[in-house]
Amino acid sequence: MKDSQARTIYLKDYQAPDYLVDRTDLTFDLDPHATLVTSRLKVRRNPAVARAEETLPPLWLDGSDLELLSVSVDGELLPAQRYQEKPGGLALSVDRAAFELEVQTRIAPEANTSLEGLYLSNGMYCTQCEAEGFRKITFYPDRPDVMSIFTTTIVAPATYPVLLSNGNRIDSTTTEDGRLRVTWEDPFAKPSYLFALVAGDLQHVEDHFTTCSGRTVKLQLFTEARNIGKCAHAMASLKHAMRWDEEVYGREYDLDIFMIVAVDHFNMGAMENKGLNIFNSACVLASPETATDAAFQRIEAIVAHEYFHNWSGNRVTCRDWFQLSLKEGFTVFRDAEFSADMNSRAVKRIEDVILLRTSQFAEDAGPMSHPVRPDSYMEISNFYTLTVYEKGAEVVRMIHTLLGEEAFRRGSDLYFERHDGCAVTCEDFVVAMEDANSADLKQFRRWYSQAGTPVLEVTDAYSEANGEYSLTIRQHTPATPGQNDKLPLHIPVKIGLLDESGSPLPLDTSGREEMVLHLTEAEQTFTFNGIASRPLPSLLRGFSAPVKLRYGYSSAQLQFLMRHDSDPFNRWDACQRLALDSLCKLQQQYRAGAALESPGTLIEGFAAVLDDVTLDPALVAKMLSLPSAQELAEQEGDIDAAAIIAVRVFARDAIAKALEARFLARYRALDRRKPYTPAAEDIAERSLKNTCLTYLCAAGNADSLTLAKTQFERGENMTDTAAALAALVEFGPEEQSENFLEAFYQQWQQDTQVVETWFGLQSGSAKFGTLERVQKLMSHPAFDVKNPNKVRAVVAGFAMRNFTQFHREDGSGYNFLADQVIALDKLNPQIAARLVTPLTRWRKYRAEESGQIRAALQRISDSGKLSSDLYEVVSKSLGQD
Ligand code: TRP
Ligand code: ZN
Repeated sequence: MKDSQARTIYLKDYQAPDYLVDRTDLTFDLDPHATLVTSRLKVRRNPAVARAEETLPPLWLDGSDLELLSVSVDGELLPAQRYQEKPGGLALSVDRAAFELEVQTRIAPEANTSLEGLYLSNGMYCTQCEAEGFRKITFYPDRPDVMSIFTTTIVAPATYPVLLSNGNRIDSTTTEDGRLRVTWEDPFAKPSYLFALVAGDLQHVEDHFTTCSGRTVKLQLFTEARNIGKCAHAMASLKHAMRWDEEVYGREYDLDIFMIVAVDHFNMGAMENKGLNIFNSACVLASPETATDAAFQRIEAIVAHEYFHNWSGNRVTCRDWFQLSLKEGFTVFRDAEFSADMNSRAVKRIEDVILLRTSQFAEDAGPMSHPVRPDSYMEISNFYTLTVYEKGAEVVRMIHTLLGEEAFRRGSDLYFERHDGCAVTCEDFVVAMEDANSADLKQFRRWYSQAGTPVLEVTDAYSEANGEYSLTIRQHTPATPGQNDKLPLHIPVKIGLLDESGSPLPLDTSGREEMVLHLTEAEQTFTFNGIASRPLPSLLRGFSAPVKLRYGYSSAQLQFLMRHDSDPFNRWDACQRLALDSLCKLQQQYRAGAALESPGTLIEGFAAVLDDVTLDPALVAKMLSLPSAQELAEQEGDIDAAAIIAVRVFARDAIAKALEARFLARYRALDRRKPYTPAAEDIAERSLKNTCLTYLCAAGNADSLTLAKTQFERGENMTDTAAALAALVEFGPEEQSENFLEAFYQQWQQDTQVVETWFGLQSGSAKFGTLERVQKLMSHPAFDVKNPNKVRAVVAGFAMRNFTQFHREDGSGYNFLADQVIALDKLNPQIAARLVTPLTRWRKYRAEESGQIRAALQRISDSGKLSSDLYEVVSKSLGQD
């Protein structure tokens, strides 16, 4: 398998560019098979690295899958001996320190299935250049520290009436042969990864936003005609995000126009190209009839995320790709705070923490483990990870927690002002935070360089005679690939203490009831005085650091925290711990071959939660959700898939039966049949209502299935319809389920996104999502291997969300995934490399599964030449190289 081109790039080897590009002038003559790209660059020697009396180094231009037609310098064709095409690019020998370079290339968007560079989606031209896709469009110094002013001219047949690029439209004409010719200019210097072009027969909705300084910005959202009715929510979200960034960060939008385009074929969620964001349709289009509440909230968050990049990413960009978290971690933190302000703060935090604990912690403990700022990579696309994004956001959040709101704002103001128009590093961000506040984040920097999830072990002691309570916290971080010895981190641990009535205790003479402990040593003791009786600690409030916290809470103490903790996140967390404890106990019984005992304390805890009508229904729904199989798997070393599945089902059914009357009462009270809105309170009610419905159906009462059937047939909004359908599929009689699924498909087959929901419902179903069905779905007419959303819905739905069927004992699930990964690697390497993730965890399973998973991975490795994306993941997972 060894791929001679799979080179490792190291952060320590970073060198500033030899040449800068002041101006980039591009002309595209669009054609599906032969698009002509003409690039005119004003190039000059980088004064920062130039030495006097030197011979000029060659100019390196990255390029891949390009047909080179011509190269000229200052208007003269360059003779062949002056340039050399090499794997990955073009080297030119240069005889002057400043010149105009013209390069002509030909590309074939139609043949581009990698969805990187210029490609076609349903006949619409679009681009994706981050991280290194621009080199698939033309030869160029495709690195983020080369920033240039771009002018883009697009020429296309009149059947593509909408021609878009970054910045402002400065010209539009019809050519003699009746084609359209449009020119755009972006006045802000940017790296090539922020370039974008769109051409198609598109409709748009338009609105405007008045900025804090009184400028009017035109807002346009482009889609194919059939989707024009699904734009309102994204447009409203955009305006909220623009206002929020002015109010919370003092950031004003800088161009006169902001455009969003929805495309069906897209590798990720969306892309922040300057002035022209391109979105995966699933992350921007929504109507109540077709999109679930989760989709509405995801759209709000992603629209904001991409918008926020205009400052955190575009105006201030990354020096190199090792600094990716500089823009992604910071921007995820910004969008999370925005979502928290728009909706329920506690629920948003809970959702983010679930993602961290299930998936980021697993990444940290696996073969691809890397720091927030990686030291090396083979393929940068593989580093758009939960660690860089989500843990990166936690690192920024910790700075916010350590410094406080106002100091953080002083730091971000200084950062934006000091580095506007520049390509900078994570270090520059931390320095700005320090300089603005005379703060010391020296030890804190280790969060950027040290991989792995720290474990905190907490013990406490109380002396009644002295009224003294102390917490002792020990921290350690397990070894990760290439990093055996870990140093202590600077960890903010937010805490409170509860007295026996559940009231908060003052923690010091100032009387505050909550504080942030600065844990900096491997072991440290914090003492509190004037404590009249033994308190119960509420630890790591709001998940103040991305760590695993261990403290020997009893069930009774957890139930007490669930009821009395003033921190809503920790109330949920106490409930989760109670559920985890119960499920772990059940697993021990299962593995010992003993009869499973009903989880009495958990049922008691859930009953109390259901009875507490003062709690936010969304929080109740989260509290009543058992940890996922994936999260349970994350808890242990020797994963026994069968045991996890069995005890989860057992606990769920026991809870369902014991609390059936309560679930029914709550369901009826919440089934209010109001017109749909995506407002937080309504989403909260629907989420609890549907949680109740699922438990009711799990309890196995025929009347409950009738409730689900009624809710399904009413079809009032997609949230309720999909939840009812999922319950019917999971718990109803088989042939009926088939009928419901068929009816649903018949109704929605014209709607791409609902069909994706329909695929996902089946592939992720423990009961229905068998391998046979998943294979059948892959030959369904609505399936398209070239569309990542479809592949994610069917294949990833099965491999990542269907623990039961994927881990079938005969190993057929693993083999199926291996086959799909091998096939996809030929079409879309980025997607293949992501899809293989479940197989990379083989070391964590019991011998039986472990051997089967490893064999599947080995088979991929032996299947022939792999893309550099897949090669990196597979070779690191097998532990070679
Ligand atoms: N920068 C994008 C974001 O906001 C990430 C992204 C979009 C991306 N498309 C991509 C990364 C394709 C790699 C490849 O998060
Ligand atoms: Zn981003």
